[in-house]
Amino acid sequence: MNTGSIEILAFGLVAIISGLFLLISLVGELAPNERHKWFLGIGLGAGIITFSLKVGLIALFSVYPGPILSMFPEQDYVRASSDTSPAADHILPARRVSYTWKALPNAAPYPPDNPPSDEKIALGKTLFFDKRLSADGTLACASCHEISIEKGGGDGLATSIGILGQLGPRNAPTVLNAAFQKVLFWDGRAGSLEEQALGPLVNPVEMGMPSLDSVVEQVRNIPEYQHAFREVFAIYPVVTIENIAKAIAAFERTLITPNSPYDRFVQGDSSALSDKQLRGMALFESTGCTLCHSGPNFSGASVFDGNTPYRIFPAFPNTEFETKYGLVEDRGVASTASKSDRGVWRIPSLRNVSRTAPYFHNGSVDSLEEAVRIMGHVQLNRTLSNSDIDDRSIQWSVNESQLRVSNNQALSDIEIKEIVAFLEALNGELPTPY
Ligand code: HEC
Ligand code: HEC
Repeated sequence: MNTGSIEILAFGLVAIISGLFLLISLVGELAPNERHKWFLGIGLGAGIITFSLKVGLIALFSVYPGPILSMFPEQDYVRASSDTSPAADHILPARRVSYTWKALPNAAPYPPDNPPSDEKIALGKTLFFDKRLSADGTLACASCHEISIEKGGGDGLATSIGILGQLGPRNAPTVLNAAFQKVLFWDGRAGSLEEQALGPLVNPVEMGMPSLDSVVEQVRNIPEYQHAFREVFAIYPVVTIENIAKAIAAFERTLITPNSPYDRFVQGDSSALSDKQLRGMALFESTGCTLCHSGPNFSGASVFDGNTPYRIFPAFPNTEFETKYGLVEDRGVASTASKSDRGVWRIPSLRNVSRTAPYFHNGSVDSLEEAVRIMGHVQLNRTLSNSDIDDRSIQWSVNESQLRVSNNQALSDIEIKEIVAFLEALNGELPTPY
């Protein structure tokens, strides 16, 4: 407490004491049977007391504003009307709430019609690695989704290469923890792993099979599969496209990576994160990354989250990054709605993200640092600067005649490195080596 606040507090106390003193002396002056004077005295004294209490409270408030303010709910965020970005509503929270961090569960949820069993998972694994499921026998699911530290469940390429060396239009996202996502693909067009698995089999620039029937035909003709499918799916016909998808999906639900340093930290091991990673974790929240990359799977599109899985990207238009990395050429979900000139995409998970370069739907960005820099700038409107001059962002709300001040508006390279260090703490234990 500084000298100024001691003076204010002392003034408040003196005001209260002198109020009390005045009341007592007024009452003392009165004769016992002069009732009307009693009323006058009490009325006057009460007025003086209320006034002095007010003065006292004001003094208290100016000395301890924090504890007193915290007794009341915080204000809503309001976007200053000078901000014309249509994306603004998408990215600002309605209410400032403290973010609760959660660990990844040790098992993924599964739909009631596809409960896992050891045999089903083993069958799904065989299918996942089987190149005979592609038109020219050169590609399996695992060719583009390699379960290793180096590839992190993807293929390490900007965009994938399908049969006959054809270059696909999008980057292969990791299959690791895909089991926790409620919609799949960059544009979220598949509602389950079962539905998703059918896509690549017949995609001409992926496994290129002529039709789903031809996939069934191919599997039926392989004797080991006939036996395995009978074991797992008792009801005939056992080899169907639904059952192929169910087995692959059951296997994919085992491809989860709990026990990352972050998970251990959240579960109570306070030494699991380095100081730098902890600083990054705080920045991840304060910068606003958790608005979209939220929950145990670091994605608002996961089964843990009830909100919309989609967001505009890039949310703040016309940045240098947009042209440099071709971020608006493919518009994801928005491709069909011609109104928008910017893409709408499913929020990806950030688990194991340091293992899955290059980044974004078109794989145009090689370094995680650059990806974080882009996110801070195009999704959260942060400026990028290493200077330590006043970097508050100040907005004027014309309607409410109020100033909105955000601290630490600029992201520095050091802060970006801290966020990256935190993202590295999301690397979990890979599932049993394959
Ligand atoms: C030629 C490379 C290639 C092959 C082969 C391939 N994929 Fe993919 N996979 C991709 C690409 C590229 C995407 C993203 C496509 C998109 O979003 O439009 C993807 C997306 C996925 C996703 C969605 C992940 C997420 O986070 O949304 C899953 C799951 C997946 N593939 C599983 C499989 C399975 C199962 C197979 C085999 C049946 C398979 N893939 C075969 C390249 C491939
Ligand atoms: C408004 C929602 C939103 C916010 C806020 C946001 N992101 Fe993202 N993030 C997305 C979307 C959507 C994508 C997918 C973009 C695409 O199409 O490639 C993405 C992609 C990413 C990727 C690339 C993932 C990959 O596998 O290629 C990284 C890394 C990332 N975000 C990190 C961050 C960080 C760090 C922050 C905070 C500085 C942040 N994001 C803030 C929505 C958001």
